[in-house]
Amino acid sequence: MENTFVIDNPMITDRLTVLRMKKTGTRKFREIVKEIATFLAYEVAREFPMREITIETPLCKSKQKKLDVGEISIVPILRAGVGMIEGFTTVYPDTRIINVGVQRDPVTHKPVEYYHKMPASIKNSKCIIIDPMLATGGSIAYTIELLKNEGCEDIVVVAILAAPEGLQAIHKQYPKVPIYCAAVDDHLNEDKYIIPGLGDAGDRIFGTEE
Ligand code: PRP
Ligand code: URA
Repeated sequence: MENTFVIDNPMITDRLTVLRMKKTGTRKFREIVKEIATFLAYEVAREFPMREITIETPLCKSKQKKLDVGEISIVPILRAGVGMIEGFTTVYPDTRIINVGVQRDPVTHKPVEYYHKMPASIKNSKCIIIDPMLATGGSIAYTIELLKNEGCEDIVVVAILAAPEGLQAIHKQYPKVPIYCAAVDDHLNEDKYIIPGLGDAGDRIFGTEE
């Protein structure tokens, strides 16, 4: 799908397979979410603009490249997005973290907001929304809308797993917002869980499964 980038790398896919396994415990799950987030964070930067500068190596003057991006804000969707923060701050250490608390209603599956705090200057930032799961796309679409209402124009979405239904919904509503993910799964079940998926990402990251 246009503007969707599936990062197909054996080192990610191998970890994702372990993430999907029911027997994978909380400690390992958290570790892998962080690792995959780090890989994805590097991939997002692939299209970042660069500028040329002249430097001096110990041997000579040389024209080399430096990043030419302004402020970057990481926007994790609570709770599960928290698991990806460390991977992103490893790659983008000089970033602000703008938390957005959104939870799916268990019956309607629609996003319900319980927290957000955004400084007015966010509108000038490149905003990278992070959430391991893009299922119906409702939570991410809600967060995109929040950012747009603040005047943000440069928005990127990063998920670990996505469902085709959610990708289509977001793309239809926000065709200019690029979406990066590690895999696109088959479908959503009647409870709007991703199949085959990995279960409830928030519960598995925080160890709150029943
Ligand atoms: C999960 C996940 C996403 C959302 C995806 O969060 O982390 O935010 O569901 O579903 P959607 O694409 O259909 O909106 P959840 O609402 O379970 O909250 P949690 O992170 O607090 O567990
Ligand atoms: N949220 C999750 O954590 N998992 C899913 O499969 C769908 C939404």
